[in-house]
Amino acid sequence: MTNYPIYLDYNATTPCDPAVLEVMLPFFNTHFGNAASKSHAFGWYAEEAVHFAREQVASLIGADPLEIIFTSGATESVNLAIRGYAESNTLRGRHIITVTTEHKAVLEVCEYLATEGYEISVLPVDSHGMISVEQLESALRPDTLLVAAMYANNETGVIFPIGEIGALLKSRGIAFFTDATQAVGKIPLDVQADGIDMMAFSAHKLYGPKGVGCLYVRKKNPRIELSPLQYGGGHERKMRSGTLNVPGIVGMGKAAEICSQLMAAESLRLSALRNKLEEMLLQYPFVKSNVVVDKRLNHVANLRFECRDGDQLLKKVSKHIALSSGSACSSVSVSPSHVLSAMGLTEQQAISSIRFSLGRFTTPDELDETLRYFSEVLGD
Ligand SMILES: Cc1ncc(COP(=O)(O)O)c(C=O)c1O
Repeated sequence: MTNYPIYLDYNATTPCDPAVLEVMLPFFNTHFGNAASKSHAFGWYAEEAVHFAREQVASLIGADPLEIIFTSGATESVNLAIRGYAESNTLRGRHIITVTTEHKAVLEVCEYLATEGYEISVLPVDSHGMISVEQLESALRPDTLLVAAMYANNETGVIFPIGEIGALLKSRGIAFFTDATQAVGKIPLDVQADGIDMMAFSAHKLYGPKGVGCLYVRKKNPRIELSPLQYGGGHERKMRSGTLNVPGIVGMGKAAEICSQLMAAESLRLSALRNKLEEMLLQYPFVKSNVVVDKRLNHVANLRFECRDGDQLLKKVSKHIALSSGSACSSVSVSPSHVLSAMGLTEQQAISSIRFSLGRFTTPDELDETLRYFSEVLGD
């Protein structure tokens, strides 16, 4: 039986996996200790649990547990990485490179830094949403401090050649930050192999709770230094002061562990469902895919409905199916997606586009029901 509305907006957020919730619950009452309390068993228990979660998260991304800094989510991690690195390394230069299709968290912290005297270069993407590594290379300057390029795009699922970018920047001694919020837990990735120095991600995109995230910060080759955004008790290697969200962190650890166990099978299962969805909808002559590259997330489709009232479609289906026109984080604004616009879509094409993002609890029945409902609305 299908439950309504059908949820196909997993890139906006994911439900907490029941196994994650289960491990979190005792940390709200029974094990409520402050992980920084060193003088009693309540604190020791909480600290031990945080340590275990740090190991679980680190193992998902090929990091050392000490390189994991817990935050409140990816937005905070992005801000800490870019602003924290820029402010603590001004002597190295003031030039930062990013990409036009980044999440607003990245673009806006760069805009802020521009007001503080940093120079920001924003690289374009091609019509497939892809960056050119050659173009990045020619944008590098002797005073380039940092490059911020996302792992996988939240609206299109396009995966950037992160390993290639990492290798290039390593050879030039330039720091590399990647926003991997949509990639971690979905595709195998390894911060060492990819040459990443800092990486942001969030628990609520990988079946963990909201309000907790992580910043990977490389400890050696090279050791990355960040200025904190906030001052206080010196938690998280002095980079992120504030009492740790122990239940959230425990949940994020469990969520990371489950993702690494399920990743391979889920990726295959979801690509079959996503491909079916695309094949069926693309049979309509007025439906086009906005993404045609091979390197993209298996659970995401971004389709354009060039029919009459295509721009009203999302509203029409929303009672039955939870979908999105782009990033939930910018859904307060009615402007067309900056990602699709950067790929060369017109305003009308961008607002007639819908992002489908499938996930762990998407069933074949739900997918069939979605297709049935679309055929009804599209007037089959
Ligand atoms: C690519 C990307 N970066 C950052 C964020 C912000 O994440 P959070 O909600 O954890 O602050 C999102 C959320 O949609 C995202 O998709």
